[in-house]
Amino acid sequence: MKNNYNDIMRKTPVIQTNRLLLRKFTMKDKEAVLAYGSDKQTLKYLIWQGITDLDGAERAIMVYYTKPGAYALELKGSSQCIGCIDIRIEPQHEKASFGYVLNRGYWNHGYMTEALTAILEFCFEELELNRVEATYYVGNEGSGKVMEKSGMKFEGLSIQEVKIKGIFHDVAHYGITRLQWNEMRGQ
Ligand SMILES: CC(C)(COP(=O)(O)OP(=O)(O)OC[C@H]1O[C@@H](n2cnc3c(N)ncnc32)[C@H](O)[C@@H]1OP(=O)(O)O)[C@@H](O)C(=O)NCCC(=O)NCCS
Repeated sequence: MKNNYNDIMRKTPVIQTNRLLLRKFTMKDKEAVLAYGSDKQTLKYLIWQGITDLDGAERAIMVYYTKPGAYALELKGSSQCIGCIDIRIEPQHEKASFGYVLNRGYWNHGYMTEALTAILEFCFEELELNRVEATYYVGNEGSGKVMEKSGMKFEGLSIQEVKIKGIFHDVAHYGITRLQWNEMRGQ
């Protein structure tokens, strides 16, 4: 792993995909954050309780979205933010995990797979990490599909691991190592 990853993450460098610009959040994104952060269906499998007004969106941006590694997903050609993917690094293990959320109006068009694929590339090629991992709560199969389509491997299921909004959920664990990433890329 690069030992200057803190500097890299502080900058949260812009990442481009075919259709998206992954960039830092600004206060201009507050309407966009409110749009997805106030939608009950979008929040169903998130620990986040969500927000109800623009003040809540401003607070979310100040507290969470200005942290290093929090990327706004901007549709290229517009300045519109349609979601978020944030990377959390554990340096001692040379690994990262991530969370993501997309405005429901854009689901099932491959946007998050595109964003996650670029984030994995960033983690392995730029940060030189050894592993990236994530979980989803059983029932939220679309999220598992994104992980699979991006090359992550199913590693196991834990039963009733979490209680989210009053409901116990089984948790599916996914991961990909540097070796698996290189094999997938034919390197
Ligand atoms: C999970 C989420 C980020 C996916 O984003 P997305 O841009 O719609 O994902 P993609 O379009 O790249 O891929 C979704 C895939 O799941 C599939 N899918 C969607 N709902 C599904 C379901 N109920 N069962 C099985 N597959 C499902 C889609 O068909 C698609 O696969 P395909 O390309 O093979 O057709 C988005 O639904 C979201 O923001 N959900 C709310 C927040 C959340 O749950 N975040 C994840 C927490 S772990």
